[in-house]
Amino acid sequence: MKKRIFSGIQPSGNLHIGNYLGSIYNWVNLQNDFDCLFCIVNLHAITVNQDPKTLRDKTKEIAAIYLACGIDPVKSHIFIQSDVKEHAELMWLLNTQAYFGELSRMTQFKDKSDKFKNENIPLGIFNYPILMAADILLYNTELVPVGEDQKQHVELTRDLAKRFNNKFGETFKEPEPYILKDGAKIMGLDNPDKKMSKSAESAYNYISLIDSDDDIIRKIKKAATDSENGIKFDKNRKGLHNLLTIYKMFSLKSEKEIEKEFENKGYGDFKKALAEEIIENISPIREKIKEILKEKKYLDKILEDGANYARNIAEKKIIEVKKKMGII
Ligand code: TYM
Repeated sequence: MKKRIFSGIQPSGNLHIGNYLGSIYNWVNLQNDFDCLFCIVNLHAITVNQDPKTLRDKTKEIAAIYLACGIDPVKSHIFIQSDVKEHAELMWLLNTQAYFGELSRMTQFKDKSDKFKNENIPLGIFNYPILMAADILLYNTELVPVGEDQKQHVELTRDLAKRFNNKFGETFKEPEPYILKDGAKIMGLDNPDKKMSKSAESAYNYISLIDSDDDIIRKIKKAATDSENGIKFDKNRKGLHNLLTIYKMFSLKSEKEIEKEFENKGYGDFKKALAEEIIENISPIREKIKEILKEKKYLDKILEDGANYARNIAEKKIIEVKKKMGII
């Protein structure tokens, strides 16, 4: 039996190279060795306002992106979260076991809630990590490949699993986060103090997977750097370090090789090479996304098969949980 992996992405905003390098890039390599479930988490997306038509379109687009990036539907299972109702059901059951305090301490909640006036903070952004815990625990997941920003949520999932097991008997596997050394936190191009984000105000913060070649060149040209000399991996030079990390991941070159390549060169040469490297990797994905989206039936079939596979596991787990809790 292969160990199981579960991960997901919200169909909100435009997927960017941070999402790609922090998650999908990693998934593609894992699918040979693990039983993989890759979800499009539309129930998470509605924790903030969404236009219904856009949400529906984006949900399919994420599925196309998974495929275009190299997720193979023969090896992996791709499905939409709301197609398996057990996610919402387990969320309620786990809600009853979670504490207000532990959810209040989630850094993502603190960041997101800062944007609202106190009494109007949507409840969904508060207990959103419980839905994520339900996603993971429904499937006896062992590894959760995510970016750095999701680590705290996976740790909460472990705590909930442990608490439930102690109270009701062994039911859930305690999952481990699986986070890459590079790419786990790609920073904003316009502000390297904050992570690259789908919801950033400026489009110069990120490079999306559907940006044109010209967009990519323009955004890299404008990316924040510093006035020092030399192209070197130095964590204190945050803007440059972030760009070099992106270059390293896309080019598959070592840090030494890269420093040698730009030994006597400046930002102009480096940024030109970086834009070319990103284009070489991203433009085939962009074209594939367009092609896959045209094949509506093919996409729907993959999502239906994925949901059937997931549902089969989830239905058994929810019965086990309900029995343990005395609901059935
Ligand atoms: P989401 O949709 O915000 O992001 C999807 C994935 O991209 C990673 N990521 C990044 N990685 C590197 N640099 C960045 N700047 C960057 N920004 C985002 C995220 O860490 C994530 O891996 N709650 C999750 C979705 C989710 C989930 C799950 C994940 C729901 N249920 C169960 C794993 C398991 C989220 O909002 O990701």
